[in-house]
Amino acid sequence: MCGIFGYIGQREAYPILVKGLYRLEYRGYDSAGVALLNGSLNLYKTQGKVSDLNKLVQGNDISGTIGIAHTRWATHGEPNYKNAHPHYSPSQKMAIIHNGIIENYGPLKVELSNRGYLFRSDTDTEVLIHLIEDIRLNEGATLEEAVRMALNQVVGAYAIVVISKEDPDQLIVAKKGSPLVIGIGKDEYFIASDASPIVEYTKDVVYLEDEEMAIVPRKGPIDLKTIRNQQKTPYIHHLEIQLSSIEKGGFPHFMLKEIYEQPRSIKDSMRGRLNLKQGIISLGGIIDYEQKMVNCKRMIIVACGTSWHAGLVGEYLFEDLARIPVEVEYASEFRYRNPVINEDDVVIAISQSGETADTLAAVELAKSKGATIIGICNVVGSSIARETHAGSYTHAGPEIGVASTKAFTAQVTILTLMALSIAQKRGSIPRSRFHQMLAEVEAIPEKVMQTLKVNDQIVEISKKFQNVRNFLYLGRGYNFPVALEGALKLKEISYIHAEGYPAAEMKHGPIALIDEEMPVVVIATKKGSYEKVVSNIQEVKARKGIIIAIVTKGDQIVRDMADHVIEIPETDEALVPLLATIPLQLLSYHIAVLRGCNVDQPRNLAKSVTVE
Ligand code: G6P
Repeated sequence: MCGIFGYIGQREAYPILVKGLYRLEYRGYDSAGVALLNGSLNLYKTQGKVSDLNKLVQGNDISGTIGIAHTRWATHGEPNYKNAHPHYSPSQKMAIIHNGIIENYGPLKVELSNRGYLFRSDTDTEVLIHLIEDIRLNEGATLEEAVRMALNQVVGAYAIVVISKEDPDQLIVAKKGSPLVIGIGKDEYFIASDASPIVEYTKDVVYLEDEEMAIVPRKGPIDLKTIRNQQKTPYIHHLEIQLSSIEKGGFPHFMLKEIYEQPRSIKDSMRGRLNLKQGIISLGGIIDYEQKMVNCKRMIIVACGTSWHAGLVGEYLFEDLARIPVEVEYASEFRYRNPVINEDDVVIAISQSGETADTLAAVELAKSKGATIIGICNVVGSSIARETHAGSYTHAGPEIGVASTKAFTAQVTILTLMALSIAQKRGSIPRSRFHQMLAEVEAIPEKVMQTLKVNDQIVEISKKFQNVRNFLYLGRGYNFPVALEGALKLKEISYIHAEGYPAAEMKHGPIALIDEEMPVVVIATKKGSYEKVVSNIQEVKARKGIIIAIVTKGDQIVRDMADHVIEIPETDEALVPLLATIPLQLLSYHIAVLRGCNVDQPRNLAKSVTVE
């Protein structure tokens, strides 16, 4: 949801800024821009990707050791040149980059227009920089003061960096609602939306809290304050991320790399948490709140997108194993619905980025009603991780591909461990099943590795279906969320219309769509409702639909009925989503590649949606 990057120091800023933008491009990529200060404040921006910006600046003055840069995912104003960031102030002596939404930009714009200011864009951001300059001129304020006074007038979310010709040795940054990190080098600072573009320069970072701003100088320490001018002491985190984890490592796309990382990432999610010998699960991050989970009357899982699908698997797990009633809510609906939340409810918020605006707002709402909030986030130190009472990080490593893959399986792994742990403490799971399941969970990374061997077969299947217009995905029980996730992956990156449905519910509508051109992916693994799903396959076949079946290794019954069969290893019914999702990720990936789609940066999407 827009990537912002700033540099101030001793080196030429442009190459650092552009590299930073490339690393942040997963956050948005409909336009890009840069402003550099070297006596004059030069600003270049364009519709399109960072590579387009890089072409545009050739032959222009891109010198300067201080600069700001932006890659955009449009919220206000269509993606075009005039709406691209940075935005100049009216005098062009200042420029700003912004991630977020200024909600009261309308009245502010009217007020500024009435005073004679002209606007070159349709953005909320331009209103903010005009306001800053207006305050600076009329109040005789310093840059820092003007930014502070302006921020006290705005309602909404922001991560901003302001650069000024009259203050060539500082950048002003501020945050509320959107993430912002400052990397501390030797006589240089790097400012970014997340730590990924910073790690190659420094591992020491300061995460800004909401309503904090900092004066970032060329030399010397940063000056951290609240926007109400209270002094703060910066807390320096030391990052553990390795540069290799944010690079493609020989794969053509981040998405494929991340699919293939899953044996490792699932292992990392379990590391130190599952002790098979002693038959113990220990989730250190929730230890102080585990009793609340054990005693709770109800759980509510809030999430968006793929994380919501993981939440659905969580519902099956907690109900099946721990016998706790669970509701799974789209965070965006939950937060505006006046939901009934009690103090003995446990709310689990699932978010890869930990920054999704709706999920964060749902957390804040549930917290204000006295519920216990547990987070399952991937990004360490993210807003949701900090806002929750307790939680478990997924430890999947940075996920760059916009379509979520390894984050999903990591979330399901954590939900499995949590459900098993709570079930054991509630005495709701037979000892023998508990121990069998622990052994099965431990075996999952190896079984994911075996599952990945279907890749070549999936390439062949993808060739047959790359040009179809619709896909249906069916599953029941634990495999229903898998069907939803498979369909979402396909539509996200290949732009083929796909629907996920509970297999039996198909009779109540989607069956009308089935003809000899309709591929139907059915997750028909053994156990659970296997026999029922077999009947559903027959219903599709009777209408000449094409069956692509995901089956348990050795299944002859479905093989005899289906047009294409993809085998996965046998495991406990509750763990099948961790395996069955893998071929569906690969199917969407290969179809998208064959269609010539940009799989890592699908159109209109963004990795992290920090606006509602
Ligand atoms: C965006 C991403 C999805 C993701 C969803 C929720 O839509 O494109 O891949 O599932 O946001 O993100 P979160 O970071 O909260 O899991």
